[in-house]
Amino acid sequence: MQRVVCPGSFDPVTNGHLDIVSRAAGLYDEVIVAVLINVTKHSLFSVDERVDMLTEVTKGYGNVRIERFHGLLVDFCAANGITAVVKGLRAVSDFEYEMQMAQMNYRLAKIETLFMTTNPLFSFLSSSLVKEIAKYGGDVSGLVPDIVLDRLHARLAEE
Ligand code: PNS
Repeated sequence: MQRVVCPGSFDPVTNGHLDIVSRAAGLYDEVIVAVLINVTKHSLFSVDERVDMLTEVTKGYGNVRIERFHGLLVDFCAANGITAVVKGLRAVSDFEYEMQMAQMNYRLAKIETLFMTTNPLFSFLSSSLVKEIAKYGGDVSGLVPDIVLDRLHARLAEE
């Protein structure tokens, strides 16, 4: 049983995230999407909301499970029988930080990290940019799933 994790903040999940999760689901027996509970970082959506959206947009995959975690990713991996982390790499700019985390996670607990190059259609995409563009009235349709688009507009209308 090959169980891997796609960790992140997912505030909110984008089509770039979904691309990586769906491709990982095609390669491994089980993919756990793990949402980081980060109390210090200001987020637009609560962890529950992020988990809800992820659950909705991945419901078509029989082998994808959504979880939340806090503390070290390697501890979450050990507690859940996960041997590898799967991450998307958008551009060279992602590489330095991702490599540092990958090497540290290996040093801490021999957890492997596998990098997948993102679909070039999404190589410019990030949750932060989506939030910023939507906040100022820009069009982010096609960059996030439709249910996320609706929730994004509803949340920004409240502010
Ligand atoms: O979507 P993000 O915010 O880029 O995801 C970053 C994440 C959650 C993968 C990373 O911050 C993480 O693994 N945090 C858990 C804490 C941890 O294990 N830190 C040490 C990393 S070497």
